[in-house]
Amino acid sequence: MEHYQFSYELVDSIDALTAADAALLGKARAVTELAYAPYSGFNVGAAALLTNGAVVQGTNQENASYPVGICAERVLLGNVAMQYPGEKIVSLAISYRSDKRASDQPISPCGMCRQALLEFEHRSEAPIRLILAGETGQVMIVESARLLLPFAFTPRELGGQ
Ligand code: THU
Repeated sequence: MEHYQFSYELVDSIDALTAADAALLGKARAVTELAYAPYSGFNVGAAALLTNGAVVQGTNQENASYPVGICAERVLLGNVAMQYPGEKIVSLAISYRSDKRASDQPISPCGMCRQALLEFEHRSEAPIRLILAGETGQVMIVESARLLLPFAFTPRELGGQ
């Protein structure tokens, strides 16, 4: 039998983070205000620190035609690609606020966003470190988004790279 496993860090709260990580998570929490999520009542905020020191944010943007909605992570990746072409993402914090439940534990990116994050890692040739948390509670740190998508379909499969 083969096994896939990966390690991640779980800390009790934002207080256990470095000042830089805590600031980034604070920005992800704050930007949930700008989500447009009238259908789900689930506001997601994402904030990325780039290698040039800039911070870029994203929020989910829903639509009356539900599948048209886009997640915070992919809005953020588009913002990074347009505002800072060629720049790498060092860390990406993701948080949320919900009409229906407490925001007291981490969420992790949906499958489609994992694929999008992986593509960004490939194109920028750098791991994206994920910092995942609710408004309160434990914080999960994953050293590279690719760890969340084993056996992924990548540019390599297309024979290019
Ligand atoms: N959503 C995100 O923005 N990111 C995630 O990682 C999970 C889900 C959004 C999509 C939709 O607008 C709402 O959260 C509920 O699924």
